[in-house]
Amino acid sequence: MKKLLGISGMLLLACSMLLGCARTKFYSQEDLNKLHDVIGFVEEEQFELQKVIGDSLTTKVGEKMMTDMDFVDYLTTKDYDPDKPMIALTFDDGPSTSTTNDLLDILEANNAKATFFVVGDNLGENTADILKRMVSLGCEIGNHSVSHEQLTTLDRDGIVNQIEPNNEKILELSGRPCRLIRPPYGSVDENVKATVNQPLILWDIDSLDWKSKDPDKIIPIVREYVADGTIILMHDIHAPTIEACKTLIPELAQKYQLVTVSELAYMKGVKMEAGEKYFDFCDD
Ligand code: NI
Repeated sequence: MKKLLGISGMLLLACSMLLGCARTKFYSQEDLNKLHDVIGFVEEEQFELQKVIGDSLTTKVGEKMMTDMDFVDYLTTKDYDPDKPMIALTFDDGPSTSTTNDLLDILEANNAKATFFVVGDNLGENTADILKRMVSLGCEIGNHSVSHEQLTTLDRDGIVNQIEPNNEKILELSGRPCRLIRPPYGSVDENVKATVNQPLILWDIDSLDWKSKDPDKIIPIVREYVADGTIILMHDIHAPTIEACKTLIPELAQKYQLVTVSELAYMKGVKMEAGEKYFDFCDD
């Protein structure tokens, strides 16, 4: 696929050179480097990117690109159907070397994405490949603190020490900046909100997988409450959750686009703010 993009990109480049570069504007190396700092995959995809940001899109999309992550969202969602409902599956407390890859297999087989809120203590050499696989499948990696402390029990420094090292570790191991926080236990107060520099992502559907550890209980809860714009809470460290996902993900993918939290917010027109809580991105 990469090869094909490369060839079509080169053809485009050749055509535009023949036409005297009049119709397609290409970014300078400096611009591409900036973009690379934000999303990390410019070199492999630059022909594809230049097609996207060429011509009339340059002004509308290109200017945003240099100031924030909107361009990344634009790129990752450009093939979605805005009229088809979409949801964000979220998985906390991992990654786990015994269960997370099985979940990634299911997501991959269904061309589905999810968001993983990872715990820093689980990140290291043995799980780096899992994070890279998440990125390669288009999944999002969020911050679930260093050691799953309840942030509302900590002072300002304590909160920073639970969040910042995990942001750094996620960037180091996955190659992608971490945009989102899921506070452990969903526990947030004014001090937490004022201290963090990222949006706080809660959920509107708790599958209670952590409690039941039973696919026959997890599946009906999700089926009953799922709707366009919902954020569903699950945990990729429990084998019964993976078992439930074998049924749920193919079923949900029939009706919904399974997207990341950042993609869902972008598609629903919500600009997430640091320190703000988000439970869902439903339209009403
Ligand atoms: Ni948790």
